[in-house]
Amino acid sequence: MSSRAQDAFREHFLVAPDRGPFALSEREAYRRWRDWKLEHHPARAAEMVVEIADLAKPTAAEREAILDLVRRTNMALYACTGRCRDEVDVRPDLMKFAATFGLGLLEQHRSAGLDGIVAIEVADEGGRAGFIPYSTKPINWHTDGYYNPPAELIRAMTLHCVRPAAEGGINGLIDPEIAYIRLRDRNPDFIRALMHPEAMTIPAFEEEGRTRATSTGPVFSVEAATGALYMRYTARKRNVVWRDDPATRAAVEALMDILTGGHEPLLFHTRLEAGQGVICNNVLHDRSGFANATGSAPGRLYYRARYAERIAGSLADAAHAA
Ligand SMILES: [Fe+2]
Repeated sequence: MSSRAQDAFREHFLVAPDRGPFALSEREAYRRWRDWKLEHHPARAAEMVVEIADLAKPTAAEREAILDLVRRTNMALYACTGRCRDEVDVRPDLMKFAATFGLGLLEQHRSAGLDGIVAIEVADEGGRAGFIPYSTKPINWHTDGYYNPPAELIRAMTLHCVRPAAEGGINGLIDPEIAYIRLRDRNPDFIRALMHPEAMTIPAFEEEGRTRATSTGPVFSVEAATGALYMRYTARKRNVVWRDDPATRAAVEALMDILTGGHEPLLFHTRLEAGQGVICNNVLHDRSGFANATGSAPGRLYYRARYAERIAGSLADAAHAA
C-alpha cells in the first residue's frame, strides 16, 4: 500500500478502537459480545443451510433465515430447490439473489463476465490459465481480496456451485469473528500484533495480467462506519511478508493452528452440491484439491461474485449493544 492508500485505509478503518467489543481495553464489552457469539453460533454446517425455492426471488421467510444466520456467523449456506442448475440461466438469478441482500457494488475483475460473475473452473488457456483458482489444486486459507487496496476491499461474496467435482473440492469455512475470539482468548497480544498497521505485507505481483501494488496493513481492523470487524489474511507462505517481530510470529502461528490444527469445533468443511452456495461477509475459507471426471463430461464449475458492501442488515445487534 502506498502512503496515500494507507491514509485512505486509516480514514475508514480503526486499528486501535477505544470502545466496543474489539477494543482491548473493553473487557466487559468483549465478554458480552463473545458469549453471545459462541452461544448463537450453529454447531454444525448442516444447521447453516437454508432452502430457497427461487434464487431470483427469495421469500421473506427464506431471506430472514439467511439474514439470521449471517448475523450470527457472517455466512449462510443455501440449497436451491428450484431452477438453478443451468449455467446460463442461473447467472441473472444470482445477481437478483445478491441484490435482495443489498449487494450491488461488484468488484471489477478481469476474468468476470459482463454481469460481474467469475467462473471458477479449470482453465487451460486464456487469461485465467496458470492461476491456482482455475486449476484443480488446493487453495490455502484466506479472505478474498487480501491484497486489494482499501478502496477495493471485498466485504461480501457469493459462491454458487453449478457442478461439483467428481471428487474433492471441499471448502473449509470459519467466521473471522470466531478466529478473533480464539486468538484473543489465548492471548490479547495476538490481537494487538495482528491489528498493527504493518502486520501483513503482500509485495507487488502480477495477477491475471495486471500488476497489483504492494499492500501493507493489519489482519484485523474495525470499520469505523459500522463497527464491523474486518479481516485481511492469507495463509500462503510465499509472497507474504509478516512484520518481523516475535509477537507477530506467535500470533500468525496461533492463527494457523486454529485453522489447520483440526481442533476448532466451529470450523466447518462442506462440499457444495449442484444448486448450493454460500453467501457471506467475506469469511475465511479454503478449498481442497479436486479431480474432474475423465472424458468429455464438463468439470467442476462455481460462480463467484464479490462485493464492496457488507450484507445489508447483517450486523448482529449484540455487537452494537456490547
Ligand atoms: Fe477465495
